[in-house]
Parts: sequence; C-alpha cells; structure tokens
Amino acid sequence: MSASKRDITWHDHAIGRAERESLLGSRGVTVWMTGLPSSGKSTIADYASRMLHASGLYSIVLDGDNIRHGLNSDLGFSPEDRTENIRRIGEVAKLLTASGIINFVAFISPYRADRAAARAMQAEGDFIEVFVDASVEVAETRDPKGLYKKARAGEIKQFTGISAPYEAPESPELHLDTVSEDAAACAGRIIELLGRKGITGTR
Ligand code: ADX
Repeated sequence: MSASKRDITWHDHAIGRAERESLLGSRGVTVWMTGLPSSGKSTIADYASRMLHASGLYSIVLDGDNIRHGLNSDLGFSPEDRTENIRRIGEVAKLLTASGIINFVAFISPYRADRAAARAMQAEGDFIEVFVDASVEVAETRDPKGLYKKARAGEIKQFTGISAPYEAPESPELHLDTVSEDAAACAGRIIELLGRKGITGTR
C-alpha cells in the first residue's frame, strides 16, 4: 500500500543534513563492506573507524553478528531472510547517511541484487561498495569463530562459501586484497578513498 493510502506524509525536520555535516566536520556516507565470513569486514571497518576517530572524526560500524542480536534477531540465513536482513540494513544505512554520519556496514551481503537494492536507496556518491576479498581457502584458515569447521561437518546449513553462494562484486568502488595486505593497510586504503571523495577533509 502506498504511503498516501495509509495517510502517512513525509515530514522534513528542522535540521538538515548539511547542517549536521558541518557540525561533524565530514560528509555522510555508507561504506558497504561485503565479503565471505572471516574475510575481515568487521576488523577492517573497526580499524578504519578507529583511524577516523584518532583524527577527530565521527563514524559508526554496523555488523551482521551484532545487528542479528537485536534489530534482525528474527532472521536466519535462508536467501529470503538474507535479503530482508540487507534491506533493513540498507534502510538504516540510508538514515545514518542522511544524518551526516560516516557509516561502515559490514555484512556478508552475498547477493548482488540485494547490494544493488541497498545502493539504489541512496544518492550517487553516498554509497561506496568495498569488496573485502579473501578466498574461501584463506578465510577458512582464519575462522576465528570455528564456523567453517562446523559447516564442513554439516553442523551449520547454508553456510556462505561452503553450502551457500557468495556473489563477488563486479565493479566495487574499492577492492581490498586481504591476503596480500593486512587490516591496517586495507583500512588505510578506505581512509585514503574517503579523503579523495571529499567525505573527509571538509573542516
Ligand atoms: S548475511 O549473509 O545476511 O549478510 P550477516 O553478515 O548478517 O550475513 O551475518 C553473518 C554472520 O552470521 C557470520 O559472521 C557468522 O558469524 C554468522 N553465521 C551463522 N550462520 C551462518 C551461515 N549459515 N552463513 C553465514 N554466516 C552465518
């Protein structure tokens, strides 16, 4: 049902995005990190957020494990639930960008169409897709939570990379090779990109 049919009207708030951005000293953006489990998405996002913080800039990190404890605790790992997971996070990311906040979003987000839908929610330039690349073989050797091991043993069904698909991005804004570069170097590349795009350096 359309919003008008439900008697819902859009309300413009008193303080706009540009005003909030000038307070924060940076521009709002979604840095969408996608990759296999244990590819390093959350680690690199945390690192980048820490680097921004050290230079006096505000940002936040959303990741799959944490959001699935609350907002998305009703969702599992079927294709439909993953799509709904990403749709909701896409909406949250959009709200954060509109609030002028640099938001790092670290979800496997295995389906291209779901990532494209999240991108389409935002204006051009407000959504930066980062492919956190590690092969299944490498990610499996990291496996800090022991989930690949469980998936191989058949204890976890529909596990991305083992028994569920991962569709790699075809043209991400940034492609991080986490095998040849460590988390600090990968985070540095993100910070560099944010500077080049004028997200930071506005103060
Ligand atoms: S997504 O596919 O819907 O984007 P999301 O990033 O929210 O996934 O959650 C992934 C996290 O859930 C993983 O880091 C892992 O800890 C946990 N997990 C539990 N079961 C699975 C599964 N079947 N496939 C992938 N991750 C799983």
